Amino acid sequence: MKTDEGLIRSPDQNALIIDGKSIAQSLLQKVAASAAALIAAGVRPGLAVVLVGEDPASRVYVKSKGKAAETCGFHSVQHNLPATTNEADLVALVESLNADPLIHGILVQLPLPAGINSTRVLETISPAKDVDGFHPVNAGLLAIGDIARALVPCTPAGSMFLLRRAARSLGVDLAGKEAVVVGRSNIVGKPMAQLLLAENCTVTIAHSRTADLASTVARADILVAAVGRPQMIAGAWIKPGAIVVDVGINRVPGQGVDATGRPQTRLDGDVDYTAAAARAAAITPVPGGVGPMTIATLMSNTLTAARRGAG
Ligand code: GUN
Repeated sequence: MKTDEGLIRSPDQNALIIDGKSIAQSLLQKVAASAAALIAAGVRPGLAVVLVGEDPASRVYVKSKGKAAETCGFHSVQHNLPATTNEADLVALVESLNADPLIHGILVQLPLPAGINSTRVLETISPAKDVDGFHPVNAGLLAIGDIARALVPCTPAGSMFLLRRAARSLGVDLAGKEAVVVGRSNIVGKPMAQLLLAENCTVTIAHSRTADLASTVARADILVAAVGRPQMIAGAWIKPGAIVVDVGINRVPGQGVDATGRPQTRLDGDVDYTAAAARAAAITPVPGGVGPMTIATLMSNTLTAARRGAG
């Protein structure tokens, strides 16, 4: 059964399922509509995606990003460079994109081949075009709570969008709630904690050295899992009524073999979904939760960068 605004009530579990796929689609439609207005005013948002090497997962991600950009009506360019590309050439490409008035957003797909200093490349991207939000200027703006001027990393921004949507539907005020983020990466855990702090949550960041993860997680009214370990968060740890956002996208062995005889795999989150859904008030599935939001938020960031660029 479908409830309002991308939240699904299933008859056989307690939790509302937060349907990231449909929420992402509606965000993409809004971005496309706003882009059309900006284009009519003479500015077409432009996104450049840079892929170095042949990593198959990266190729799939980059293709999806380019497709979403076209769907939104953006000017979309992709630079595919060989794995043998040297750092100086990659930096020079980023500098040329910084100077290109048709490009408002630059994304260099990670991971970069060994031998290229990713930090140097990411810090070459102009902060105003840094639609991944990885540049220290954007990380700093987020850390001082100046979200209106920052470009916020896509996965935590998308997770926050889902969290707000679920809280609104449940009639929950995020202010004052205990939020626990499991994972302290610069790409997800730390920016997620900053966003929750900006919502006036009381925020704990747990990580691999946290002494008692189970009791830390059990305090969470809001739980964000971003560790990259399948089903690491047990259902029994979840506080009844919590909102659970599972950022984990882990490829694990599935059942049987595929058409070419290779063992099947499937995607699994960081949370034991079935057990957690019996206790939580709302939960994101994997796949179909945070994943689709990441690309939608990237488009939203590109639109933001284009609007700011246009003054
Ligand atoms: N590789 C995996 N996720 C991401 C992401 O969000 N941005 C970039 N640039 N590379 C990635």
